Amino acid sequence: MTQRYELHDLIRTDNFIDGKWVPAASGKRFAVTDPATGDVIAQVADSGPTDARAATDAAARAFPVWRDTLPKDRADVLHRWHALILGHADTLGRLISLEQGKPFAEGRGEVMYGASYVAWFANEATRIYGDIIPQQQRGKSMSAVKEPVGIVAAITPWNFPLAMIARKIAPALAAGCTVVGKPAEDTPLTAFALILLAHEAGVPAGALNLISASRDNAPASVKDWLDDSRVRKITFTGSTPVGKYLARESAGTLKKLSLELGGNAPFIVFDDADLDAAVSGLMASKFRNGGQTCVSPNRVYVQASVYDQFADLLAKRVAALKVAPATDPDAQIGPMINARAVEKIERHVFDAIERGAQVLTGGNRLTERGPNYYAPTVLAGATPDMHLSCEETFGPVVPLFRFDDEEQAIRAANDTPFGLATYFYSQDLRRIDRVSRLLEAGLVGINEGALSSEAAPFGGVKESGYGREGSKYGLDDYLSIKYRCQGNLA
Ligand code: SIN
Repeated sequence: MTQRYELHDLIRTDNFIDGKWVPAASGKRFAVTDPATGDVIAQVADSGPTDARAATDAAARAFPVWRDTLPKDRADVLHRWHALILGHADTLGRLISLEQGKPFAEGRGEVMYGASYVAWFANEATRIYGDIIPQQQRGKSMSAVKEPVGIVAAITPWNFPLAMIARKIAPALAAGCTVVGKPAEDTPLTAFALILLAHEAGVPAGALNLISASRDNAPASVKDWLDDSRVRKITFTGSTPVGKYLARESAGTLKKLSLELGGNAPFIVFDDADLDAAVSGLMASKFRNGGQTCVSPNRVYVQASVYDQFADLLAKRVAALKVAPATDPDAQIGPMINARAVEKIERHVFDAIERGAQVLTGGNRLTERGPNYYAPTVLAGATPDMHLSCEETFGPVVPLFRFDDEEQAIRAANDTPFGLATYFYSQDLRRIDRVSRLLEAGLVGINEGALSSEAAPFGGVKESGYGREGSKYGLDDYLSIKYRCQGNLA
């Protein structure tokens, strides 16, 4: 009979290494806080290199066994994990809301989203095909087979504390890799809860290991993995500077890398667009997780002839959003993750106003609600010299830029080192074909604001990183190809 966990049972504060919950070797702990109030929720292990090394040792011992476990049996474990996640969807959703701040409906939605990757890769585990290479010489047989890369280090962000780690661990385990991981310091509790369920589902001791570390100690823990030649792959979601650091520092042992990094997503509204649909698409993509999503539009370009009408429609919808703690059933926007996040949003908005932007709605902190709330904001008159044009604001702020023609819109959209998501709205089929080819990005939303799916390849181009998550392509990042040549057969 499957154990049913309540919220307090799911809250684990120690590292999970070799199938056991253990404190950090130093005995140190750090506080995880509720972003809505600043109250401390738990004190979790503050790990260092010794803990990272212990996790790698366990993963190395477990690797030969997990690698040689039949794909069908690995799939069964993942299916059981998926069922356990679904069985705890409400509780996990509440835990996400508690430590990350997103409204409960979104927290629960994230559980379903994360679980979909586990189910997807459970099925993919049994479809890791190779190739028989057509014969080139008599007496020689040639084939290509796919093998797990080895130990994978998964380093995950705070904005989707369940989905991001699920979509890294699930393909790794499906491929036959073992895992060491570190969730973001703001949101380790959801990750630990997920690991608890994975263990209960039958992931063997050592195959999955997770350590938490504070902002101060995380770099040294991760460095141990970067330098350790037994760790064969790093999978990371987070900022571009950290992604570049990981690429540089792991070069010493030439690890395989998947880097899902920052974006600066453009959202283009052409004058032939269905404006109501464009506003709805923008609301869905921009205000998901309060704008703290790397595929959230950061720059909205609207063609001059429909600019005022679009701005008006949008400002009304944004002004009506309910900002409240996750516990309020009507909440649509929760608190931002921490004080630094609100300071950045505030800095971007002040800078934009100083350079001539007009506030159509919002434009201020909501200090009466709690320490980390910011009002959903629409700014008209945005220009390329503003900070929010070059950097991700990662908050509920929509800057509206005006453009005259298609070429100008595409040039502006591509004028960024990043290339994760892009969106555009148009009803002209020729334009749709042209623009979707010219936009420099890994993901293109055409008359659609919600792109993410376990069945679709997620990842960027340019400085938004490389590698893909989800879909049939997502597994390749955890596999290497071995060519086998057998001779003397004739
Ligand atoms: C992210 O913000 O990093 C991921 C968003 C998604 O999976 O849709």
